[in-house]
Amino acid sequence: MKIAVLYGGTSGEREVSLSTGKGIIKALKNNGHEVIDIDFSPERLEEVLELNVDLVFIGLHGRFGEDGKIQGLLDMLGLPYVGSGSLASALAMDKAKAKQIFSMNNIQIAKSKAYPVTDETDTMKIIKDVRKKFSLPFVVKPNQEGSTLGLTIVKTDDQIEEAIQLAASSDSTILVEEYVKGREVTVPVIGRQGEEQALPVIEIIPKNDYYDFDSKYKPGGSEHIVPAPIDLSLTDRLKKEAVLAHQELGCNVYSRVDFIINENDEPIILEVNTLPGMTPTSLFPDSALEIGWSYDELIQKFVELSTS
Ligand code: DAL
Ligand code: MG
Repeated sequence: MKIAVLYGGTSGEREVSLSTGKGIIKALKNNGHEVIDIDFSPERLEEVLELNVDLVFIGLHGRFGEDGKIQGLLDMLGLPYVGSGSLASALAMDKAKAKQIFSMNNIQIAKSKAYPVTDETDTMKIIKDVRKKFSLPFVVKPNQEGSTLGLTIVKTDDQIEEAIQLAASSDSTILVEEYVKGREVTVPVIGRQGEEQALPVIEIIPKNDYYDFDSKYKPGGSEHIVPAPIDLSLTDRLKKEAVLAHQELGCNVYSRVDFIINENDEPIILEVNTLPGMTPTSLFPDSALEIGWSYDELIQKFVELSTS
């Protein structure tokens, strides 16, 4: 098959995507496909169209990759691609909107509030409201971002303003969320719509305070325990809720669903990643390996699920 791999891109997660893309390109070649790799920017879209490829593999993360925009453009061009469509991608990327859908489906979420922030916004007004609604510690993050970029766990009152400014520097809406203390786990989901299965649950033990950018991508930055050492009924619940979250957003082919298990042993969903990292330190391939699927086999499954 002739496959174009779009990777790199212009989002804050560009470096992550370069690494994801490298992995995907190598796997596709190992699987015998003809690969055209494109460090993507919108100007190169015409080029993609002229290549006459059978399939586009989107190896991008974050804005203009994971947020449904490129998927919408490819739909208009009539080019098939791997993964979720435009609406599901956009919903998953918008954490506040996604949380409303999870909540409607009885998947537990952390209490949160989204605040639009423009140049005219009075930050003091937001701070006042945050103080009223949340007790320390709480999380401030951009509403649409990945890899924990722009995220602060606010532990003291004097950190609030800086946390808001940091989150607002990469998004016009910020999300303030109750901090859930507990164990961090993630569940990969794979399959055609209506036939999804959850892969083994992974527990993440970060070397830093929490699973921040360095813990995610520095070799040895975190330990992945697969399968997560949790009891069967909680494992089942996590897998069911991961598939439900994936389906209710309308995702397709694959995603990775992040949770915190709180101190009462209840899963609290954080988000669905429609284009999860596929780097050497990433979680999805580690989980697949546990059931005997190599990285190359996993990528081939994504291709087959997208084309047959
Ligand atoms: N946003 C990164 C790539 C992930 O969730 O894996
Ligand atoms: Mg993410």
